[in-house]
Amino acid sequence: MQMGQFFRAFFTVGIIGGAFVALAEAKSGWAPDPQAGHALLTENCASCHAVDATGTSPVPAAVAFHEISARYPVKALEEALAEGIMVGHDGVQQMPEFRFNAIQIGDIIAYLESIQDE
Ligand code: HEC
Repeated sequence: MQMGQFFRAFFTVGIIGGAFVALAEAKSGWAPDPQAGHALLTENCASCHAVDATGTSPVPAAVAFHEISARYPVKALEEALAEGIMVGHDGVQQMPEFRFNAIQIGDIIAYLESIQDE
């Protein structure tokens, strides 16, 4: 076997192995992790939105996340996050499009539900 082939084989096994590990993790009782959701929102949204349980948003037009449920049920965001659609994109400061995977969305929703005002 040539070196290149060897590495390709090695690499393929690595990727498939990784996928199985991920699958095993997914099956072994994953539960939404609000802390991880908070981290994702801090990383991606905090430049415009208030992401904590109190406070006002850096960009006034952007809803503070603890006030979301005053507008609509937090669960309503699930689909929007999955499809990468965020409503109301035409603010002064454009809101970029985000796309999250099912686990990330579970974490985000769990976090948002934990900080709602009411
Ligand atoms: C660059 C700034 C910016 C970033 C980053 C940003 N947003 Fe926004 N977002 C806005 C603005 C501005 C609005 C209000 C748009 C409007 O009303 O026209 C908004 C609105 C929203 C709304 C309310 C939509 C509605 O119909 O009331 C939600 C929910 C939202 N953003 C979620 C998020 C999430 C989740 C993230 C991170 C993954 C995020 N945003 C990142 C600027 C941003």
